[in-house]
Amino acid sequence: MIKRVAVLVSGSGSNLQALIDAKQAGALPHGDLALVIGSKEGLFALERAKKHGIPHHVVCKKDHLSQADFDQAMLDLLSGYEIDCLVLAGYLGILSKAIISMYPKQILNVHPALIPSFCGKGFYGLHVHEAVLAKGVKVTGATVHFVDHGIDTGAILLQGACGVQADDTPEVLQKRVLKIEHDLLPLALHALTSDSVIWQGELAFTKD
Ligand code: GRF
Repeated sequence: MIKRVAVLVSGSGSNLQALIDAKQAGALPHGDLALVIGSKEGLFALERAKKHGIPHHVVCKKDHLSQADFDQAMLDLLSGYEIDCLVLAGYLGILSKAIISMYPKQILNVHPALIPSFCGKGFYGLHVHEAVLAKGVKVTGATVHFVDHGIDTGAILLQGACGVQADDTPEVLQKRVLKIEHDLLPLALHALTSDSVIWQGELAFTKD
């Protein structure tokens, strides 16, 4: 059974592109990138979706009078496209319980650090790498985890690490970590869409 995947984006969409490239390379045989949802107009990620013929829409918080209204717009879109699972690929919004509870253990997020370090409120984009450099840690990396009702607190599925160099800038480090994100996210989505995630209580593992 092919699982229909919605990818939520807020930026350039390099993680979305990694998923598109993986699909084209045959690395996502059980997943169909059926929908892209942008958090605002004008995102380059939406250009990527358009170029690859993926249906794409914008659901923007400021266009909705309430959280409930925003949630309903998201849920209507997700059900309209018969979505089975979601990937937050550089998505800066926080999904409400109303949405998360509709997709239990079916929502992945990629975070540009080794959770539980350098995550949670305020840790996004370059802020993460600035904090990594300020702390002087020697290793950082990326994490793909399931989304639960917290911020970056769901079960960790995959992680990849890289070194931190003395002369790194946040931008240089972000590029190094992005490469890991781009490797991990397709692997994690393949595990999810091929039903090869193993749960041990609240902990998640890929089969191989
Ligand atoms: C990057 O900071 C990445 O580390 C994080 O989201 C941001 C944008 O990613 N996951 P993308 O290029 O829009 O996928």
